Amino acid sequence: MSTASAASSSSPLRGIAPFLLRRLHSLSGILFGGYVLLHLAVNASLVENYRYDGLPTVYQQQVDKIHSLPFLSAISFGAILLPIIYHTIYGVYILINGKPNVADYGYTRNWLYLLQRISALVLILFIAFHYLAFKGTFNSVLGNEMHFVPSKATESTVLHFQQHWWIGWIVYPIGVIAATFHTANGFYAAGVAWGLTISARAQRRWGGVCVGLFLFATACGLTAVASAMTHKKVPPIDPAIPRVALPQVFPPAGPNV
Ligand code: HEM
Repeated sequence: MSTASAASSSSPLRGIAPFLLRRLHSLSGILFGGYVLLHLAVNASLVENYRYDGLPTVYQQQVDKIHSLPFLSAISFGAILLPIIYHTIYGVYILINGKPNVADYGYTRNWLYLLQRISALVLILFIAFHYLAFKGTFNSVLGNEMHFVPSKATESTVLHFQQHWWIGWIVYPIGVIAATFHTANGFYAAGVAWGLTISARAQRRWGGVCVGLFLFATACGLTAVASAMTHKKVPPIDPAIPRVALPQVFPPAGPNV
């Protein structure tokens, strides 16, 4: 298994701090993992395709519900962004201080330990790309239709994925599998870390549940990707329709009246 941990005696952190920071890392991973599962399940509804009867698609309805939440910026900052930012920063610290040992011990858990770290590195790049691209950050370099338009959820998602073939067929499948593996394997590890799965039998059962979660979440994510790549490409969306911008903690100042 692991041969070194960030909370080991060689850590520059002292006292109770390493334990608490580690628990917070686990908790932030569980919180964000719950969000990832929900996010992929909602995205799988893209399989419905467009509707031509004037009614909103299931995907559009879910997006509308999310965007009508009060204090959306505060919720997304506090419950989604902040946990993943902390998880990433402390995760990098763990990566730097841990030593994989699959060369000496080739057990499944040693490989899963290594894959947890490789998927973490992939996720740093993927989450940054996914988040910033949907906010339109890369529009000038990757094309003008990369941003998400909440009132045209299905159309703008299809345009985002189909901007370049490699976005939908390479970047997203790799990102989805890294996320579902890291989440499911992380849930398994968290069960042990929080003392919920002590016995070998409990670990076997929880392992089965986590494999199920991995398969379900991967199926949802890849369904969403394949749907967005195969639905008909629509014309560019009217630039006058509001897009998603980077979260604003303070709304821009209005005109002085
Ligand atoms: C989809 C996004 C992510 C989710 C849902 C997630 C979730 C989790 C969960 C639930 C754990 C298990 C915590 C425990 O052992 O109790 C974990 C572990 C870990 N995560 Fe993440 N994580 C994500 C992204 C990242 C990123 C971007 C990094 C960047 C470095 C990272 C680094 C790590 C590391 C190093 C571990 C292993 C910790 C250990 O073995 O003690 N994770 N993650």
